[in-house]
Order: sequence, then structure tokens, then C-alpha cells
Amino acid sequence: MGQKTVLITGCSEGGIGDALAKTFHKKGFRVFASARNTAKVQHLKDMGLDIVQLDVTDEESIKQAALTVKAAMGGYLDFLVNNSGAGYSMPLLDSDVSIAKRMFDVNVFAVVTVTQAFAPLLIASKGTIVNIGSVLGKMPFPWQGYYNASKAAVAIMTDQMRIEFSPWGVRAILITTGAIRTKFFDNLPSAPRLPKNSLYYPAKDVIEPALAGTEMEKNAMDVNSYAEVVVNNAIRSSPKKHLWSGGGALLTWLASTFGWSTVWDTLLRPVAHMPDITNKIRDAEKTEQDRQKTN
Ligand SMILES: NC(=O)c1ccc[n+]([C@@H]2O[C@H](COP(=O)([O-])OP(=O)(O)OC[C@H]3O[C@@H](n4cnc5c(N)ncnc54)[C@H](OP(=O)(O)O)[C@@H]3O)[C@@H](O)[C@H]2O)c1
Repeated sequence: MGQKTVLITGCSEGGIGDALAKTFHKKGFRVFASARNTAKVQHLKDMGLDIVQLDVTDEESIKQAALTVKAAMGGYLDFLVNNSGAGYSMPLLDSDVSIAKRMFDVNVFAVVTVTQAFAPLLIASKGTIVNIGSVLGKMPFPWQGYYNASKAAVAIMTDQMRIEFSPWGVRAILITTGAIRTKFFDNLPSAPRLPKNSLYYPAKDVIEPALAGTEMEKNAMDVNSYAEVVVNNAIRSSPKKHLWSGGGALLTWLASTFGWSTVWDTLLRPVAHMPDITNKIRDAEKTEQDRQKTN
């Protein structure tokens, strides 16, 4: 048996891709650690990993990355990890669809286009695709509606891939990821601020910390411990097809598996301070009505 190989998207320092790259490397894999900006993976090159430029939204970049790995490995690749991802924190009523579409390009459409490019190599090795999903694809945690929808799409696409790729023995694993300590919230595409004309503005002191991920970060798991769990599962002879790991993952699994269909309406309202937010909005509306009456 030769050395096993993996290509991982989005390996910038401090993120999940970075930790997965180091973990696969530690376990003896030849790792192709990719990033759209290779300066962000220089530290991995220094550790002896192969660095590949790959912007998952750029057709030419994807093609070149696949050619690079094909040439290096003689047409074989054992694992592809679709990890690249972007967030977007904003109430749906205030969100900008152009930002949401760019996020869907990275989180959803790129998972397919990157997989298409590496499919011949994965088929040649009867390889495995690992898609990094999120518990937010299962739970409507407020103010991240578009992100949550993108991760729900990743979940169904992973199951779809497993069935559609079965003729060639290519496996697909979904990681339903809970909160992990990374730079995710520092990398948001827009500042975590409500617009001044937001209907939620009266509750901005409660909502803006949530937009910035403060609640999530309290509960987050160490990224290296998470990477160990993900890699250990991927390299088993019979890996779990749906692996849950990270802060809040177990609770989300329990509620989404055993709860009633609208369980989240009840569970998330207090967690997201919705009664407080509702009171602040009502108070502001009442103050405005009183002001209009006196004018
Ligand atoms: N952290 C969590 O709590 C958590 C929870 C559930 C799921 N996830 C998922 O885990 C994955 C990794 O996120 P993270 O927490 O490690 O966040 P992160 O530190 O922000 O890493 C995201 C990575 O995706 C890359 N990326 C963004 N757009 C790209 C593009 N067009 N082409 C190639 N790469 C691109 C980023 O590159 P740049 O550095 O160049 O921007 C970065 O390397 C994402 O899919 C995320 O949705 C994270």
C-alpha cells in the first residue's frame, strides 16, 4: 500500500482546514493543503505539506489544482475534504442577497464543482469525500438564515453524492459540525452590525453580540481535538457517514432526531433572547406611537 493522499480546501492558518491538514500529515498522509491565498498556508509548506492555490469559486483555479494533484499522484486521490466556507450573520429581513449569493457560491456550488474536478482521481482510488457541514444546517439559530440554508444544502448534497457515486465505490461523509474555535466570525463578509433602519434596531444591544458569534464562541470546541475526531473517522474501514462533532453537536442531534418538527421554536426562543428582543421592539414601537400622538 502506497502513501495515502488528501486534498483539503480552505487551509488558511487557524481554521478547520489547517487543523485537518496537520492531522492528516501527522498520520502519514501526503497532504495537498489548498487556499485561495497561498500566503495563508506558508506555515504548512514549512512543515513539509504540499501547497496548492485553489479558489473554489474560480473555474480555472479548480482545473489547475486538479491537474497539479493528478500530475503529482499519477491520477489518484484518496480523500477530498470540501472545507472552504463563509458565514453571513444578519437577520433575513436586513440581509443583502448579493452577499448571500456569494456565500452560496463558496458553501454550496463549489462543493459540487470542486468534487467534479477531482472525481476522476477519487474514482481511480475508490476514494472518500468529506464535506464540512454544520449543526446550523439542522437548527434555525437566529440571524444566520442564509448560512444555515447553505449548510442544509451541503447535508442533502452529501447524501446525494453517496448514492450517485456508489457505482464507483466513492464514499461521501457529512460532518455535522458544532461550534469550533477558529477565525470564522472574524472573517464575516460584512460587519456584524444592524443597519440603522432595521426593525430589530431597538434590540441591537442583544442582537449585535449574537451576529458577532459571541454566544457560539462560549461553547466552542478546540479545533485540533475536532480535527482528530474527523480524521480518525475518515480513515476507519467503515466510517460513520454522518459524524457529529463540536460544541452543541450532541444536543442538536438529540433535538433534531427525537424532537417534534417545530422543537426549535420552543428551544431557541429563550436561547436567542427572543422574549427580551420582542419587548424592546414593542417598547420602541409604543414610544414612537406616543411621540406621534403628541405631535
Ligand atoms: N468554526 C465553526 O464553529 C464552524 C461550525 C460549523 C461549520 N463550520 C465550517 O467549517 C468550515 C471551515 O470554517 P472555519 O471555522 O475554519 O472558518 P475560517 O477560519 O474562516 O476558514 C474558512 C476557510 O475557507 C476559505 N475560503 C473562503 N472562501 C474561499 C474561496 N472562494 N476559495 C477557497 N477558500 C475559501 C477561507 O480562506 P480565506 O482565509 O482566504 O478567507 C478559509 O481558509 C466552513 O465550511 C464552515 O462553514 C465552522
